[in-house]
Amino acid sequence: MLKLFDTHAHIDDKQFDADRDEVIKKIRQSGVELLMEVGSDLESSKKAVEIAGSNSFIYSAVGIHPESADKADDEALYAIKKLAASENRVKAIGEIGIDYYYDNCPSRSEQIRCFERQIDIARELSLPIIVHDRRSKGDVMRVLKEKKVERAVLHCFSGSAETAEIFVKMGYMISFTGVITFKNAKKAVEALKAVPLENLMIETDSPYMTPEPHRGKRNDSSYVKFIAEKMAEIKGVTAEELAEITYQNGVKFFNIEEGLN
Ligand code: NI
Repeated sequence: MLKLFDTHAHIDDKQFDADRDEVIKKIRQSGVELLMEVGSDLESSKKAVEIAGSNSFIYSAVGIHPESADKADDEALYAIKKLAASENRVKAIGEIGIDYYYDNCPSRSEQIRCFERQIDIARELSLPIIVHDRRSKGDVMRVLKEKKVERAVLHCFSGSAETAEIFVKMGYMISFTGVITFKNAKKAVEALKAVPLENLMIETDSPYMTPEPHRGKRNDSSYVKFIAEKMAEIKGVTAEELAEITYQNGVKFFNIEEGLN
């Protein structure tokens, strides 16, 4: 059984409301030894902290996703900061970032402001950030540079190999989902090839992005092994090596003290 760290999952999602506890049990039994439960707005961040608080192998990230940037007023941002500061199982600010894919997202300026203010929170608390970047790499890179961000992971990476190389040069981690198992995943596969093993992390982004052979069904962290196996094949290492490297990368990136979980 592979020892795995799913560095990005949304177990707080309503798709798990009916059977969350059973799913968490199933995940733990599948070989997932660490899991980063990621908030996407204030409510889900509160849930994320709660879930991490009652499961010793789960840690949490809190933050407001660009999709909800219009709700990131002073009060909400202060609440995110308090949540991150008061709970030592919060290991990152995320997910935060910019999304120019959907037309129904808040305005670009609103998204950038929300992203920048949460980067400031991460800096104040010495936490890394989990970045959502969809069709927005120019502005994401500019903000990360201007803010001199040192610890970031580009999650659910959807960019090109060239873009991946730039982020790696900036010192960031790149994380891939089940998308790399899809038959038409040429771009993601090329990007994965361009990322050195030491910059690589693995994630399900569940309940979304379900890998083959379960594509079309609800995703959960127990499926992270299918992603690890495919990544190993592409990188030319064994699944055990890939699992161990991405596990250690995650532990280091999120500053998790091993042995405590
Ligand atoms: Ni996500």
